[in-house]
Amino acid sequence: MSCGDLLDLNDCSVTEWTHLIKLADDIRLNPRDYMRRCEGKVLATLFYEPSTRTQMSFQAAMLRLGGQIIGFDNPVNSSVSKGETLMDTMRIVSNYADIIVVRHPQEGAARAASLYARCPVINAGDGGHLHPTQTLTDLVTLSTVKGKLTGLRIGVCGDLKFGRTVHSLLKAMSRFEGNRFYLISTPELAVPDYCKEILDHAGCPYEEVGALDECIGELDVLYMTRIQQERFATPEAYEKQRGVFVLTPEKLSRARKDLAVLHPLPRVDEIDLAIDDDPRALYFTQARLGMFGRMALILRMLEEDINIHSERNYHVHAADCSNPRCITHTEKYLPHNVCPDENGQEICLYCEEKC
Ligand code: CP
Repeated sequence: MSCGDLLDLNDCSVTEWTHLIKLADDIRLNPRDYMRRCEGKVLATLFYEPSTRTQMSFQAAMLRLGGQIIGFDNPVNSSVSKGETLMDTMRIVSNYADIIVVRHPQEGAARAASLYARCPVINAGDGGHLHPTQTLTDLVTLSTVKGKLTGLRIGVCGDLKFGRTVHSLLKAMSRFEGNRFYLISTPELAVPDYCKEILDHAGCPYEEVGALDECIGELDVLYMTRIQQERFATPEAYEKQRGVFVLTPEKLSRARKDLAVLHPLPRVDEIDLAIDDDPRALYFTQARLGMFGRMALILRMLEEDINIHSERNYHVHAADCSNPRCITHTEKYLPHNVCPDENGQEICLYCEEKC
């Protein structure tokens, strides 16, 4: 029996997150105790979109657990370039691997992949939708550097529209008591309504803010993000947003001494290089801690010791998905399956866009 797929970190309970964070901490402190735990197991990394951290930290995680890795980091070098569907690729690779990690530019691709794999699937980022293991990285980091996940004033800054790491982080941190959010962006790059609905539903206070200066002095955590050039409809639309939010030493001088500056990376120009040596700059530490989080996740998934509720009750909808970035528009054999969200509203099973 499979333990389920990790498509959305919110399919796990807070208790499960706590197990993962504790295990990641123990692996970091006692790496030799874990170096043979995945001996004989194979992890596949199927990256249809570029990555440094997620791909390599998953690979390093499996190697450090004593397992082996296969996969591609560019679909051009696989039979995807000959027209092989995601469905067939998953059917094939699950003959070779015990667990599959997928990154894909289309929203909902990880859910689609999981329908055809015969082993657990981990979502390593599906377009602008979700990036659950970045969120796991962020939870491990906040727990390690702040010692808690409650009562934090968290600023998220930059591309809040396309920034899937922000969407997942807001969703996750809204499940802890006393967190307050500052959503710092231009109106064009504001957080999608569904994220605000999640915060409202959780009773989490938030403010939408147009400039870093308006709130930097109040923050415990500042989560910077890159403006995601690749997700804009036109180069002109990107140019209008480029460089609007840059964290400079001058701005940081107004922040608290114990501020944690995080960033999922890669960085372009939104954090001045002069900040890297400031003790508050924790984004490189964050990338390192993410590997231990992924080791904990692989271990618990392969040992089937994890409780993930990734199953959904769904049915086929007559109309196509209204989200042009949904995987159903590129993998045409996929039926437009829909399921209820937490408020009973019908959403696309894959990309979670409202019907
Ligand atoms: N944070 C993150 O997802 O980085 P990569 O795109 O390099 O994997």
